[in-house]
Amino acid sequence: MIIRDAALNDLEQIVNVHFFAFPEFFLTSLGRKFLKQYYKIYIKYSHIAFVAEKNGVIEGFVVGSNDSTVFYTDLKKEFLCFIFPMITNLFNFNLLSKIFKRVYSVLFKKKINNSLKSYDELNELTSIGVISNDQNRGVGSLLLAKYEQYCIEQKVKGITLTTDADKNEKVLRFYRKFGYSIDQSFVQDEKRAMYSLVKYFKD
Ligand SMILES: CC(C)(COP(=O)(O)OP(=O)(O)OC[C@H]1O[C@@H](n2cnc3c(N)ncnc32)[C@H](O)[C@@H]1OP(=O)(O)O)[C@@H](O)C(=O)NCCC(=O)NCCS
Repeated sequence: MIIRDAALNDLEQIVNVHFFAFPEFFLTSLGRKFLKQYYKIYIKYSHIAFVAEKNGVIEGFVVGSNDSTVFYTDLKKEFLCFIFPMITNLFNFNLLSKIFKRVYSVLFKKKINNSLKSYDELNELTSIGVISNDQNRGVGSLLLAKYEQYCIEQKVKGITLTTDADKNEKVLRFYRKFGYSIDQSFVQDEKRAMYSLVKYFKD
């Protein structure tokens, strides 16, 4: 097993892992083409993207950014590439309403929940996933350790991420073991209870 930088020709496999790791998530419902464009931003614009590869097969990935404002600017630059993948969602009104809320908040830099504290000085880990059959074998730990090592080398103060508050004990335990703690809770899409976790690095 090696943990290495993700490359553009890994995108198909990264999307495969995403489908296994996040079957019920909002981004998953936007479809394969959308996800490919989304993960491409991390690689093309040199944000952070590592993959875990064994015998040529990608078993897991982790992505994030040192500056989410820069990430959203890069996302806007690629806006046209997202239009075609979105067309297939045009008749799913529930999904469309969620998409509009998120696009609005990205384009106008508005937070969906204004009372939420932001973490401008922290790195944001946006997604870590391991293919279902390969979970609980240490792949996620290797990816997270590599991600943290990179952040420390970049001299960032710490890492933040969001994850589900309900029915997510395994993932919460995984992060707790790595030293992450719950910093705030909020509700996403009117019903999904979420936590913001943070970990600060020592100077
Ligand atoms: C969260 C996630 C990335 C963790 O990846 P993982 O590869 O399963 O994580 P690890 O195997 O490193 O650690 C998980 C557990 O397996 C245990 N483990 C690690 N190596 C092991 C081994 N060789 N043998 C047995 N158990 C092992 C770890 O101790 C840990 O158990 P613990 O939490 O009880 O201590 C993965 O579960 C996942 O993709 N989940 C779905 C997507 C998701 O929710 N991502 C997070 C969103 S924010």
